[in-house]
Amino acid sequence: MKQLTTDQVRQMFLDFFKQKGHAIIPSASLIPENDPTVLFTTAGMHPLVPYFLGETHPMGKRLASVQKCLRTVDIDNVGDNRHGTFFEMLGNWSLGDYFKEETIQWSYELLVGKAWFDIDPERLFVTVFKGDDDAPRDDESINMWQAQFAVHGIAADVGEAGKDEPAQKSQGPRIYPYHKDNNWWGPAGQTGPCGPDTEIYFDTRKPHNPFFGAMCHPACDCGRFVEIWNNVFMQYNKRDDGKFEPLAQRNVDTGMGLERMAAMLQGVPTIFDTDLNQRLIKVLADVFKVGYGQGEERDRSIRIIIDHIRAATFIIGDPRGVAPSNVGQGYIVRRLIRRAVREARRLGIETLMSPTVAEAVISEYEKIYPELETNTEKVLIELKKEEEKFGATLERGLKEFKRMFDKEKQITGEQAFVLYSTYGFPVELTEELVLEQGAKVDREAFAEEFKKHQELSRTASAGVFKGGLADQSEETAKLHTATHLLQQALRMVLGDHVAQKGSNITAERLRFDFVHPEKMTPEQIQQVEKIVNDVIQRDLAVDYQEMTVSEAKAAGAIGLFEDKYGAKVKVYTVHDPQDPRGFFSKEICGGPHVTHTGELGGFKIQKEEAVSSGVRRIKAVVNV
Ligand code: ALA
Repeated sequence: MKQLTTDQVRQMFLDFFKQKGHAIIPSASLIPENDPTVLFTTAGMHPLVPYFLGETHPMGKRLASVQKCLRTVDIDNVGDNRHGTFFEMLGNWSLGDYFKEETIQWSYELLVGKAWFDIDPERLFVTVFKGDDDAPRDDESINMWQAQFAVHGIAADVGEAGKDEPAQKSQGPRIYPYHKDNNWWGPAGQTGPCGPDTEIYFDTRKPHNPFFGAMCHPACDCGRFVEIWNNVFMQYNKRDDGKFEPLAQRNVDTGMGLERMAAMLQGVPTIFDTDLNQRLIKVLADVFKVGYGQGEERDRSIRIIIDHIRAATFIIGDPRGVAPSNVGQGYIVRRLIRRAVREARRLGIETLMSPTVAEAVISEYEKIYPELETNTEKVLIELKKEEEKFGATLERGLKEFKRMFDKEKQITGEQAFVLYSTYGFPVELTEELVLEQGAKVDREAFAEEFKKHQELSRTASAGVFKGGLADQSEETAKLHTATHLLQQALRMVLGDHVAQKGSNITAERLRFDFVHPEKMTPEQIQQVEKIVNDVIQRDLAVDYQEMTVSEAKAAGAIGLFEDKYGAKVKVYTVHDPQDPRGFFSKEICGGPHVTHTGELGGFKIQKEEAVSSGVRRIKAVVNV
């Protein structure tokens, strides 16, 4: 294995594919053009979709790039060893040119070749598509991988996940087939080009964690195997009716996470330990005297700061850059900055932090992404503005907290609510502060009282909430989306007579009233929960379109068709590529909603009861 810096990994990838006749194309914008289904570019293939469908690319049929990407679905995982919101994706593409044989051979050559990454092939495992009604098992890839491994005397048998122990040395299972959920790739929840894929995993040789299943396998989530490269065979087009038709040309789309690959080649435990990230982390140590390696919790805060300020820098500094605001991409930047600032405060950093981190980010990346240099001033100004705005809110709230606390040596739920609605203090922050002062918090009573006041002042404080207080809006959006999933699941389990009678959402739970003649059985409740949780697991894309009520009806939307003659309404869609209609749910609604169902974390029904004759009420929560 070669010790390569992050810059060298990036360069070596591009050099390799240049040598194989690929034109190097610049990274496209982080903010996609003409694609309402995603807020940000999440893979190198996004800008290339028209070319998979047959349009001629001006740079030819063999392309490679390093693409800036952002995935916000991982936001809650940032800080562990595998996830970042912003990352760079290295990719190579064949637009109807080469196919499986070449791309598998080249993948192997780049990873294992002495002149290239020089990884021990015994550390590599691959997965392939298992086959179903839409497409056959990918035996071609299996044979091609076996031919590659054979060069090094490695047998590379086919194994079954959970049944066959992965190979230890040169004999035994090394190739594992999986279904679509693991080995199929296409634009999120959409119709369009897609296909089976083959993924390459690196065996860290860490012991398996049995929490994730009795036996480890490449796609196991325990962390032993790390996915480093995906090769997608884009040979199908998913139609509106859910059928897969062969594309006129067979394409290849690959993606390798630069940070993961660098971490692996450097033999370091997390993506935050690479040379590049350690240089950024050092800035915190040098300027703010916050050192890395002084406890897991502090390290986690440091990782979040680095990741989030980097992401914010790239979003604001993009050629199609977006400043912090309360909507769309702007809301994500705001949330990223505010979360980073809160972590900084946690570490005791009280002075302006984000522009300093951003300057370090810009100097690391500007040679690859010259737009960062061009937009430096804009980035620094926006970050300063947002951090100061949020800092002032935090400070005022802290004063108010002290004043309240000093009186009674305790904080009531009502006071917590005031801190929240007026000063933007998330309830957990108030809890933390109370604990810091040595007082106790009865979480449940606190939350209950908080909720009561929240409901009471719902209308009165609507204006204040508009400030886009991240945590509150985030939870509300999740529960709004959960309500749509719930309604659809109820219709699937109980029947189409289920219609919404009312809905109410607080920061903690959703309440949904609907027409149904009798009490639900425990089995029905379980079924509904399972359907919703499956949709959450599958991380389907959510977006909205504006249209007239009659257009909404025609598109199959449900919801309250209030007679607003000619007026446009918002129709939210939870896309589902596996549903013949192309969506899981389509509903008229004002929002807000999450952008991907995975953000909900999990769903649980807490109560099912009668409201009146023929109307039932469900209370449910997310994040479980
Ligand atoms: N588009 C593929 C992915 O993101 C390569 O995994």
